[in-house]
Amino acid sequence: MFDSDFVFGVSTASYQIEGSIDKDGKCKSIWDTFASKKGNIADKSDGKTVCDSYVKYKDDVKILKQLGVKSYRFSIAWTRVINEHNEVNQKGLNYYINLCKELVKNNIKPLVTLYHWDMPQWLEDIGGFLNDDISDYFAHYTDVVTKALDGLVDNYITINEPQCIMQLGHRVCVHAPGVKYNDMEMLHAIHNLLKCHGKAVKVIRNNVKNSKIGIAPCSRPMVPTDRDNALLEKKCYEKYFELKRDYEYPNTVSIYSDPVFLGDYPKEYYEIFKDILPKITKEDLELISQPVDYIYQNFYSGNYCSLDKNNNLIKNDFYFGYPEGNIDWLQVVPETLYYGPKYLYERYKKPIIISENGFCNNDTISLDGRVHDPERIDYIRRYLIELEKVSKIVPIKGYYYWSLFDNFEWNSGLKKRFGLVFVDYRNGRRIKKDSFKEYKKIILK
Ligand code: NOJ
Repeated sequence: MFDSDFVFGVSTASYQIEGSIDKDGKCKSIWDTFASKKGNIADKSDGKTVCDSYVKYKDDVKILKQLGVKSYRFSIAWTRVINEHNEVNQKGLNYYINLCKELVKNNIKPLVTLYHWDMPQWLEDIGGFLNDDISDYFAHYTDVVTKALDGLVDNYITINEPQCIMQLGHRVCVHAPGVKYNDMEMLHAIHNLLKCHGKAVKVIRNNVKNSKIGIAPCSRPMVPTDRDNALLEKKCYEKYFELKRDYEYPNTVSIYSDPVFLGDYPKEYYEIFKDILPKITKEDLELISQPVDYIYQNFYSGNYCSLDKNNNLIKNDFYFGYPEGNIDWLQVVPETLYYGPKYLYERYKKPIIISENGFCNNDTISLDGRVHDPERIDYIRRYLIELEKVSKIVPIKGYYYWSLFDNFEWNSGLKKRFGLVFVDYRNGRRIKKDSFKEYKKIILK
């Protein structure tokens, strides 16, 4: 059993579910641009309609109500609420006001993500995260949103998965905007992104009474194959927070979370990047590390590890016969939800909320008209067993399943389904999967 203030929820994000990409004055985001280019999306799909949540938001809330979640995490499209002239677009803003009113009326607490990857194209055109004014633009946008949602929303996440923004959007370039940064630009952009977070925290604290704030990175913990081996666990912990100057550093934990929670980049940062450091002032670091309330974290998978005969950490590629998903990076490693929160709490000492966790499957509609997804049920149950275990030693305050609906899985398109609700993209029909009923049972327990 979790604590009495523990919250079960589900997560979504604007571009992945809303559709209506040019309605009511919405301007273009980098994902509109990216998805329209040939070869970028595996199945040639895009966000034009997807779950049609811009139109069907009242149905969305009905479904949430039936599911029994206490909270709904969704993101706001910057491009709907601010136009190319950096002015407020009231029509777009109204959509979120109406959605939040509907949620609150139904006793579902909104958890709003301010940035879930859909940067306005006009801002990208003037440099995106490399533009030193980006944090002011973000603060302005945050100010508009928080004032408009005053009295409806007090829980905010500033930025979703900075790791993917940088590694996938600006290094591997399989995500929007697909603009490659060199190392010097990368560090500069990461610093500007952290300043966006810091300025947004300041604005939210100013505008919202009783605000609860966090940032939602993602990570993939090292999981000891032997739970009783203290040396192995210590090495797993060290590896999880390690920062090296390699291809993967934009994807690491400490480069973002140390400045936010500890007030500075890890000390090795200054050493390994000494020839290309961005300008970092004391004021910047104070801004970035203003107190937040939670460590949000998106966890899907981990790496089983053991020690070789010289006590060096090695990754093990074996898995234990758990169901396999259909997306290459998602191996089922339930202990992810034990060790991930444990390591984070040991280093940063703040209550933890799992802002995403979910399973991707080849779901189909059966002859009986239903969607049977025992693998997803198995995944949720196994992961929650581990989360419950760790909650005995770490304050765990919530779990948000990703995702309420099948939706636009970025460059992988529509074929990768994570939802508790199946979406038939031919006609917009929504079908509750077996996992929907199972999650409901878990919530009500
Ligand atoms: C992380 C992202 O936040 C979300 O947008 C994505 O769809 C899921 N994980 C699954 O890949």
